[in-house]
Amino acid sequence: MKAMRIHRFGGPEVLQLDEIDIAEPGPGEVRVRVAAASLNPVDYKMRQGGYARLPASALPVTLGRDLCGVVEAIGPNVSHVVPGEPVFAHLGWDRGAYAEQAILRVGEFAPKPETLTVIDAGSLPLAAMTAWQGLFDHGGLKAGERVLIHGASGGVGYLAVQFAKLHGAEVIATGSAANLDWIRSLGADQVIDYKAQAFEDEVRDIDLVYDLIGGDTRTRSWGVLKPHGRLVTTVSKEPVEEQAARHGKTGLLYFAHPDAEQLRTVAAMADDGRLQVMVDRTFPLEEAAAAHAYLQEGHPRGKIVLEVR
Ligand SMILES: NC(=O)c1ccc[n+]([C@@H]2O[C@H](COP(=O)([O-])OP(=O)(O)OC[C@H]3O[C@@H](n4cnc5c(N)ncnc54)[C@H](OP(=O)(O)O)[C@@H]3O)[C@@H](O)[C@H]2O)c1
Repeated sequence: MKAMRIHRFGGPEVLQLDEIDIAEPGPGEVRVRVAAASLNPVDYKMRQGGYARLPASALPVTLGRDLCGVVEAIGPNVSHVVPGEPVFAHLGWDRGAYAEQAILRVGEFAPKPETLTVIDAGSLPLAAMTAWQGLFDHGGLKAGERVLIHGASGGVGYLAVQFAKLHGAEVIATGSAANLDWIRSLGADQVIDYKAQAFEDEVRDIDLVYDLIGGDTRTRSWGVLKPHGRLVTTVSKEPVEEQAARHGKTGLLYFAHPDAEQLRTVAAMADDGRLQVMVDRTFPLEEAAAAHAYLQEGHPRGKIVLEVR
């Protein structure tokens, strides 16, 4: 099978199309024929090197943390899925989706949302799990609370805006000017142009800051929280717990994990029309390097997806 792998760390040019053996699914696993695999910033962070979860000793690896495809082989002890079933999945760290075939474990996949294209479905899993777990499992967001979402036009942020609004929260979101009308159309009650306005001059009394940016944006966020406000972040450069303690708040960094039940919930939201899916651009698998360059430099709205034929 064809797999887009890296043998060394570096720029997009280190992505290389290899011919490798097709793996057989072990106990509790299935093999899928991949139709679409999305790009996430973690893919280029792994490609660049220095990412804790990918030591040089693990190379070569196939990148790609989520996909949509069709089950084609089933390992021992798997009973709830049959060959031919379309699924979407968020893979564990040890496997990649930029390939014609991928191995999934039970617990990493759910039936593909029926009304979505394979491209739209493949764009969702990692970003949706991240937004859902950040807002609800870690952030404890409740209906009626005020949430500030930084990075609302990105792959995670545009879903977070929708999940928070559908949950009954008051949503304030930051993004750049060209995306503000779109972010409002997703359900944001207030939008802030992060390049033209200082968000700390525009908002206060926030219950939860959902931080997809880090750095100075995070540093400036402590002051907009209510006295017992919380901040949840996906970005790890500075130790967030220490920062939070200095400001007398709660702060937490987390890593999203696959969750089949949450994937089912997201699929239902898509199928009953409550969730808008935004794919900015698709690229063929063979052009993964151009897709990486575009994600890093191109200011995409929503997600980038690789199409696997
Ligand atoms: N811990 C985890 O489990 C986990 C999971 C998923 C993602 N992440 C991390 O979370 C971050 C976001 O992921 P993503 O997939 O949403 O990334 P993305 O699709 O690249 O989106 C980032 C967005 O942030 C916007 N932005 C940049 N600077 C901003 C600022 N100062 N204020 C507000 N918005 C700003 C960009 O908009 P413009 O282009 O218009 O500037 C862009 O749309 C990444 O660092 C990623 O690695 C972590």
